[in-house]
Amino acid sequence: MKGIVISGGPASVYDDESPTLDRSVLEACVPVLGICYGQHLLTHLLGGDVRKGDKGEFGLALLDLAEAGSRLLNGVETHQQVWMSHRDVTVAPPLGFQITATTSTCTTAAIEDAVRNFYAVQFHPEVVHTLQGQRILANFLFDICGCAKDWDAGQRINLVQDQIRQRAGDRNIFFFVSGGVDSTVAFMLCLDALGSERVRGVYVDTGLMREGETQFVRETFAGFGLVRIEECEEEFLGALEGVREPELKRHIIGEQFVRVQERIIEQQGLLNGRWILGQGTIYPDTIESGGTARAATIKTHHNRVPGIQKLIDAGLIVEPLADFYKDEVRAIGRELGLGPQLLDRHPFPGPGLAIRCLCAESDQHSTRTPDGWLLPIRSVGVLGDSRSYAPVLALDAFPTEDGQLQAEATELVNRGSGPSGFNRVVARVATREPLEHQRVFSSSITHGRVDLLRAADAIVREMSLESGFDKEVWQFPVVLIPLGFGEARDSVVLRPIRSVDGMTADSVPVPSDLLHGMAARLMAIPEIAGVYLDLTHKPPGTIEWE
Ligand code: XMP
Repeated sequence: MKGIVISGGPASVYDDESPTLDRSVLEACVPVLGICYGQHLLTHLLGGDVRKGDKGEFGLALLDLAEAGSRLLNGVETHQQVWMSHRDVTVAPPLGFQITATTSTCTTAAIEDAVRNFYAVQFHPEVVHTLQGQRILANFLFDICGCAKDWDAGQRINLVQDQIRQRAGDRNIFFFVSGGVDSTVAFMLCLDALGSERVRGVYVDTGLMREGETQFVRETFAGFGLVRIEECEEEFLGALEGVREPELKRHIIGEQFVRVQERIIEQQGLLNGRWILGQGTIYPDTIESGGTARAATIKTHHNRVPGIQKLIDAGLIVEPLADFYKDEVRAIGRELGLGPQLLDRHPFPGPGLAIRCLCAESDQHSTRTPDGWLLPIRSVGVLGDSRSYAPVLALDAFPTEDGQLQAEATELVNRGSGPSGFNRVVARVATREPLEHQRVFSSSITHGRVDLLRAADAIVREMSLESGFDKEVWQFPVVLIPLGFGEARDSVVLRPIRSVDGMTADSVPVPSDLLHGMAARLMAIPEIAGVYLDLTHKPPGTIEWE
């Protein structure tokens, strides 16, 4: 063992069940790096003081390096952008530690005991929004721990294909493809590794896809002749009828995929122990769905529902991309010779439009607050590394192009994210009537609402592509919320974000002309009562709304 990294997590060191480690681990004389919760744990175990926080800090901060210098922060420019996501905070480092960096809100942003080789940071060096995070991790791994760089990216396809052959043995692989980047690349890796005789694909049209998607898949995969289309709209929408609870929706969709899979396997006579299932799961899916030992659930992923988990436990699943991030998946796809029409597509979640079509249990009014209108809509957020639902704050202000409102949104959430607060902020782009008249309507997933969302999404996608804005963003979810006036009972939320791996993301300002243009076309649909822009970065808001 060359070193230990104690990672972040949602727990507080003062919780009964919080993860900990035996003090003797710290006496192993190897370097230790604590990140966020890892800093608190190290501090707590070594006799320092951690203060319990109930609000926390989520988002960007500027790091100021102390003059004394630090091996961990060597080469990092002073006044560096870092990304924070925490509730508790270290107020007094343990004896022997120096403070090596601060921010305006955190006096212990980085601390270290260079003699014992203990290092700890409050911010997250592992996310791309910490601009020199990679440098910090490299300092720890290569300089402080003395690790060697023996990972050869050029060999990764060979390694992954060896793993596929090993896992499959003499069995064949049956794949669900969605037309998205991950499942396409995973499918092609298996195809390359085992040959076309041994790999089959099925695309399930859940009725929750975007406009034109099934046609795209039909045309794209026609060349391979290996993917068949299974029409399942009625089955999926039937299973979701009357369901309003967001996590239950995700669960039902995941299990429904398993039902379809079981049926297809049975119909095809594949129950002879000669087939295993392939999935396009990538590393963030596993981390964010709590799939690593102590990770909290940020995303409840449809690839990790109990039915699938049973297959995983029985060794009947192969996930060739499970160790990779999205940008690496795209790079692997390019090495396999896949074109931009497949690789440059925006990510689209497996549960589809269902998790962008929000539901409500009952009719409710919004509440006026000093900052804006609190909408009684439950949207998911990621505060301090765990997934939680909270209302949304709506600002009565047209979003400008300078990103000013996005910056304010982060502050508002940091201030208002207490137990009865909110985790997301939207700005009003256009509404049929003033905000005080709006209310949330009792609603569930229906054919009509999914069609409405599909139409709104198609308008936004078309305008975004035509204007070139599409190239500025990593993903552009369009969300339907049951908020309106009179007979127009739904509103549309635009959620353009910039990201590298989906783990963190920035809300992107939209050029005013484009925003006005989108709003005009959306408001021409009589059922749509309003258009809003989501201003929230991730954290504190997730990319999707459920
Ligand atoms: P969140 O909302 O967790 O999303 O910030 C991060 C990225 O993951 C996508 N996503 C999913 N993809 N199945 C998927 O295949 C899912 O259940 C799922 N949930 C979120 C999301 O679109 C974004 O790119």
